[in-house]
Amino acid sequence: MELHPLRRRDAAEWSRIRVANEAWLSPWEPSHGIPWRERHTPAAYRAMRRAVLRRAGQGTSLPFAVRVEGRLAGQVTLDNIVRGALRSGFLGYWIDREAAGRGMASLAVALVCDHAFREVGLHRVEADIRPENEPSQRLVERLGFQREGLLRRYLDIDGDWRDHIAYALLAEDHPGGVLAHWQQRLSR
Ligand SMILES: CC(C)(COP(=O)(O)OP(=O)(O)OC[C@H]1O[C@@H](n2cnc3c(N)ncnc32)[C@H](O)[C@@H]1OP(=O)(O)O)[C@@H](O)C(=O)NCCC(=O)NCCS
Repeated sequence: MELHPLRRRDAAEWSRIRVANEAWLSPWEPSHGIPWRERHTPAAYRAMRRAVLRRAGQGTSLPFAVRVEGRLAGQVTLDNIVRGALRSGFLGYWIDREAAGRGMASLAVALVCDHAFREVGLHRVEADIRPENEPSQRLVERLGFQREGLLRRYLDIDGDWRDHIAYALLAEDHPGGVLAHWQQRLSR
């Protein structure tokens, strides 16, 4: 599994995967009232990439593509990064259904959290997850995120305001690192 910045040449592959994964991804994403296919053209990828690269340049986003065995298989983004006294960011992630159920998404998120705490100097990483999204809750719990509360009708997801559970991980929660914490859990 490899993490790297979003590449311009991945537009067609991203579009193919996102269109094929509509039923798998759409319950957990904003709809903006635009049909899925129209939002997932190669041109939409290029526009999304330009927008996240702009935010990355401003220091408010850390966008990564996830590659599994050489094939594009998902994204992990730490977005809305705030510095100052808060030093926090919000996690978003998805994995191609064909690459799911193998620990690849957990590995990718663990690496991004370690990068955020160590190289970027953040103190808190938050993940807000719909109560219905059990695989995503299992992912963050596996990495040691703690449940902090229920956010009522918090995000406009899949066409309506949806409740979300707030999960967060703090830099000091795993002094040896997030990846090491998960690996220790696996070996128990
Ligand atoms: C959320 C999401 C990324 C989780 O993906 P995932 O494939 O379940 O997560 P992982 O890659 O970490 O795989 C974990 C699963 O692989 C299994 N697994 C198999 N082999 C494994 C291995 N060698 N190492 C670790 N886990 C392994 C684990 O047991 C676990 O299964 P379980 O959750 O049923 O216990 C995925 O469901 C997804 O993309 N959903 C749609 C988008 C979405 O919901 N995004 C998040 C919005 S908040």
